[in-house]
Amino acid sequence: MNDFTQALCSAFDTGVILVGDDIPEHFCSDWAGLPPVRPLALARPRTTEEVSRILALCHDAGIAVVPQGGLTGISGAAHPEKGGIALSLDRMNRIESVDAEGRTLTAGAGAVLETAQNAAREHGLMLGIDIGARGTCQLGGVLATNAGGNTVIRYGMARDHVLGLEVVLADGTVINGMNTLLKNNAGLDLKQLFIGSEGLLGIITRCVLRLHPHPPFTATAFCGCADTQAVISLLSAAGAKLGPMLTSFEVMWPQFFDIMSEGTGAGSPLEGRHGAYVIVEASGFDEGATRTGLETVLEKAFEDGLIEDAVLANSLKEEAALWAVRESPSEYQAILGPIIPFDVGLPLHRMHTAVTQIEAEIAEMYSSARVLSYGHIGDSNLHVVINVPEAGENQPEAEVKELVYGIVSELGGTVSAEHGIGVIKRDYLSYSRTPQEIATMNLIKQALDPKGILNPGKSFHEVVA
Ligand code: LAC
Ligand code: ZN
Repeated sequence: MNDFTQALCSAFDTGVILVGDDIPEHFCSDWAGLPPVRPLALARPRTTEEVSRILALCHDAGIAVVPQGGLTGISGAAHPEKGGIALSLDRMNRIESVDAEGRTLTAGAGAVLETAQNAAREHGLMLGIDIGARGTCQLGGVLATNAGGNTVIRYGMARDHVLGLEVVLADGTVINGMNTLLKNNAGLDLKQLFIGSEGLLGIITRCVLRLHPHPPFTATAFCGCADTQAVISLLSAAGAKLGPMLTSFEVMWPQFFDIMSEGTGAGSPLEGRHGAYVIVEASGFDEGATRTGLETVLEKAFEDGLIEDAVLANSLKEEAALWAVRESPSEYQAILGPIIPFDVGLPLHRMHTAVTQIEAEIAEMYSSARVLSYGHIGDSNLHVVINVPEAGENQPEAEVKELVYGIVSELGGTVSAEHGIGVIKRDYLSYSRTPQEIATMNLIKQALDPKGILNPGKSFHEVVA
């Protein structure tokens, strides 16, 4: 222990600050797959007051602080710093209240998303944020990264669900912005600075989230389409017929579907092979209208040649089975080994070109490469996961990123649609943001964290465009 960690330990109760071998391996990396790093210390505060005191001490000593939630991020924003402390919000996990009439949920940043979803459901309401890592990710991380997920097409990104935040600034100042009002136009809406800023501007400690009435009926279909254009036409048709009932519209191209359905053993709900697979989910308040709405979309899509084959779930169990392959990304490491993941955004009409061009150019460079494309096409969000088997642990990251981001940039896309920049996309931020935008981000950072202790070297911090 050095003088700083000694002082830190003695300022808090046992268990709040852990050092050396007492730091569990779990906190040494996130899902980005970067080599684990043991931080100088791990802080696991129980209250906002403890977070504030920890930050004040780190600020005085100029020690870096890396905030951590459920560690399910795949851009490395929560990856620890060797000489800094990791500050996990996991003990601040209380669902404080649900206001059923005002339709709000108040919780600590460490609350697991699924716990918050269940709390809303107990009151007949729903939290409209849903991502695959729901059972592990924590609200603070979800908000700090402005997470997306499978229901963005209906409910929007994480940002759209936040009414209020409590945030601790780099020097320990507590900003109590626990607004519960749907409309509050009094001055700057400061919470927007912290949502999606990947822990660079302040640490989210509590939040007030907006809830929605829970639509009790869902109808889910799994469709095989000939190609991407048919998928895009199906998206338009589903949107026009279902309106706000359209809750998810997820696409999987064949390499993703074949490899992941075989790897997970989930198999395919359809007999034949198709050029693209789509999950369409509708939800609503009238059982007949929800199911009939989706059935009508499917019938018309068959007639118009947009769908080659489809199945409609008849029970919640069947619904879950239709989602099984789409919900398998946490199995990548086990099925593929090391991967180079992408989370790009593209104009819808460029999606087909992007998928085919990325597949073709990667195949030309690495003939055995596996290129898995899938994503939230209804949100113009494409995920591509690349693995070059013969490269083993040394995946050709730089070359592959250069190629993919080059294509995305040419097609007018963004290098991050929902996963954020973290560590792994820093060098490419300027592909999607202008020098003036990046300079302004750093001006805000300088104003809120002049010593640069919060998540240094991540996301936009000191990126020179
Ligand atoms: C998904 C995550 C990886 O959509 O964003 O599967
Ligand atoms: Zn996604």
